[in-house]
Amino acid sequence: MKHFTSVDDVESMPSLLDLAKKIKQSPFDYKHIGQDKTLGLLFFNPSLRTRLSSQKAAYNLGMNVIVMNINQDGWQIEFEDGAIMNQGKQEHIVEAAQVISQYCDIIGVRTFASLDNKKEDYGEQWLNKFKQHATVPIISLESATLHPLQSFADWITIDELAIPNPKVVLSWAPHPRALPQAVSNSFSQWMLAAGVDLTITHPRGFELDRQFTQGASIEYDQEKALQDADIVYVKNWASYENYGQVGQDLDHWMIDSDKMKRTNQAKFMHCLPVRRNVVVTDDVLDSDNSIVMQQADNRTYSAQTILYKLLTSEI
Ligand code: CP
Repeated sequence: MKHFTSVDDVESMPSLLDLAKKIKQSPFDYKHIGQDKTLGLLFFNPSLRTRLSSQKAAYNLGMNVIVMNINQDGWQIEFEDGAIMNQGKQEHIVEAAQVISQYCDIIGVRTFASLDNKKEDYGEQWLNKFKQHATVPIISLESATLHPLQSFADWITIDELAIPNPKVVLSWAPHPRALPQAVSNSFSQWMLAAGVDLTITHPRGFELDRQFTQGASIEYDQEKALQDADIVYVKNWASYENYGQVGQDLDHWMIDSDKMKRTNQAKFMHCLPVRRNVVVTDDVLDSDNSIVMQQADNRTYSAQTILYKLLTSEI
């Protein structure tokens, strides 16, 4: 593994899952792997889980960690090739990525979609520029279009449930603000790569990019989709087609206990943070079937497994 920015960087899905299980069983057995190595974590956007779980994962491997909220603490970075830098941005990615590579053995980068410009967001300009100019491996801590560390943690969580051939439903839910498609694209991509039976349900006009959902069943009737589901993964995303638009009059897509009654006593999943009583009602989120804490816990082991792979790969 040279970089980790999507499921496409995974050489063997079964081996990766086996390694994650081994690491979770005994997370402190690998302190020597990262000794004298430094992980740099660069955040262009806010984070709770990704930031803390990545740090914890690195410490479990004996690594040092440098964290930077780059928009607040650093110079503004220019990503355009050939830019005439006579405006607000003081530093070009060409120098920034090379300098950070001198201080860090692995660099994690979080960059959200702008939701203004589909071509730029789906071109993954920021992440690709880090990959192009850094001289060390890059980990996506969530990019404009994908969130692979989250999806890997979700897959570990689903595997732990040990449900034979589970029916997994990814359901759109309402949200007052425009959110990226990254978690949903990535969840779909990982589930399909793992051979899971996946149904995606959303209002018309909220279809995800087909490159990530080819092979999933698409069902516009949410209640029909939830029928006999074993796992319900809930997430809002802004429209991909009418790029960045928020749904209007779609509050009835919120997940509640009546909808969960249609399922096969399904487990409830969400990547967090979640807006209570907008995306999902309190009673579902606080129920015994909610496994959001198990998902959050597995963020440490997904990150630790990926760091382990990058530290031990011969590049
Ligand atoms: N799920 C997730 O990535 O959480 P944060 O945005 O808090 O990192």
